[in-house]
Amino acid sequence: MVLGKFTKEMIVNKICCIGAGYVGGPTMAVIAKNNPNIKITIVDINQKRIADWNDKDLSKLPIYEPGLSQIVEKIRDKNLFFSTEIDKAINESEMIFISVNTPTKTYGKGKGMAADLKYVELCARKIAEVAKTDKIVVEKSTLPVRTAEAIKSILHNTGNGINFHILSNPEFLAEGTAINDLLNPDRVLIGGESETAIESLANIYASWVPQEKILRTNLWSSELSKLTANAFLAQRVSSINSISELCEHTEANVNEVAKAIGMDSRIGPKFLKASVGFGGSCFQKDILNLVYIARSYNLNEVADYWEQVIIMNDHQKRRFSDRLIKTLYNTVSGKKIAFLGWAFKKDTNDTRESAAIYVADHLLNEQAKISVYDPKVAEEKILNDLNYLNTRTEEENENGVSYLSSPYEATKDAHAIAIMTEWDEFKDYDWEQIYSQMKKPAFIFDGRNILDKNKMNTIGFEYYSIGQ
Ligand code: NAD
Ligand code: UGA
Repeated sequence: MVLGKFTKEMIVNKICCIGAGYVGGPTMAVIAKNNPNIKITIVDINQKRIADWNDKDLSKLPIYEPGLSQIVEKIRDKNLFFSTEIDKAINESEMIFISVNTPTKTYGKGKGMAADLKYVELCARKIAEVAKTDKIVVEKSTLPVRTAEAIKSILHNTGNGINFHILSNPEFLAEGTAINDLLNPDRVLIGGESETAIESLANIYASWVPQEKILRTNLWSSELSKLTANAFLAQRVSSINSISELCEHTEANVNEVAKAIGMDSRIGPKFLKASVGFGGSCFQKDILNLVYIARSYNLNEVADYWEQVIIMNDHQKRRFSDRLIKTLYNTVSGKKIAFLGWAFKKDTNDTRESAAIYVADHLLNEQAKISVYDPKVAEEKILNDLNYLNTRTEEENENGVSYLSSPYEATKDAHAIAIMTEWDEFKDYDWEQIYSQMKKPAFIFDGRNILDKNKMNTIGFEYYSIGQ
């Protein structure tokens, strides 16, 4: 058994990607589009997800991402395949991407902090069990630093005596802009020990990514860079959100402050939008994981520093709902609160860790009646998100929350509107009509600062935004 070293260069004709999710689907679609000679099979244990990826009706794809369905339409069943035949796809491929979920642990040691690596380990064991020829195994999932060591050990101890090489190739796409991010990445990061294996993967990206944007590092730098990038991005959002609270007490305007500091080229303008709080499947998970790793090395100051990003984000969500309750005369009991948006950001149907979930949960504790409209999120997802919190019974959630397929229905007879997602269409609604059908005074709490304050006030709304 030789680990980390190939005797001859590996030619990649076939790729298998384990995990047909928000990363596996779009990433492989873009790799396949740019490498028509490589056959890519994305496999998953979730049969329904694979069936949806294979659906003739492209509106049924399991993931909504601008530009994705057009690529899938062109190359599906040509060089991009979706399948549940995991063993077959592993066996026939020279390169295998692991792109499964790595959620925060909900049990045992590290509960609520560490990344749960059971799905990644199952993949490594499966690869070891079925692989009969040499393979390059690529970590695409976001993993704690030094995970490659565990994967290596499993492959080494349970494999069929063939050669494996592990690469770390974390993904930096953001949802809602995934296709553009993949087509024009700021950089592609490849960490590994064998130059030959690194170059095999670099060649695949080089079909559309300029060489100078393909970074080669050691395994551990690559794994740690992914957690660090997310921590830095989330930290910027928490930083501007902390200033938004100060703005509300001082008549400074957070949009103006963000613009003024963002024009400093050392700071830059991105990720300075004050909001109701960041959501998404990764920021919180990855920072908690970073904090857990730091504590495991007894680096308590490092851990405390990063933990504050999460504490600030929780505070921002809580403060939004507290302000809404206080403004509505200290009670929302029995009052209809219309949520515009449930997704964690615009242009995605993903709701994981969306601020909307936590704000709704808080308002439901105060016996509010919540009506939700989101252009892309399905009704059952909203109830699942709330049921997952286990704050109250499923029946109580069903009684407290309703889903409407029109924004005008959702806001009719509402005491207040909470804007939770920055969907573009919200700006173009007939706000006079919405005002006329609401209870008075009609309140808007704009958790994304997307509406025009003067216009809303002229119509008659009592308009509250973040940090102004
Ligand atoms: P996801 O939940 O959308 O998809 C993961 C898929 O893996 C699921 O469909 C699941 O059924 C499948 N799976 C789990 N175990 C399996 C197994 N043993 N065999 C076959 N299939 C299995 O997750 P995601 O959002 O695509 O995230 C995947 C990884 O990428 C995570 O580590 C995440 O941190 C990272 N990441 C996510 C994003 C993002 O925007 N969502 C961006 C960058 C990195
Ligand atoms: C983020 C990173 O941007 C990606 O680089 C990374 O690959 C990904 O996490 C991941 O590892 O999963 P994503 O969570 O999809 O991508 O979306 P972002 O655009 O980063 O937004 C995250 C959250 O922060 C959203 O709720 C968004 O509304 C919020 N946000 C973002 C703000 O409140 N203000 C901002 O200025 C920017």
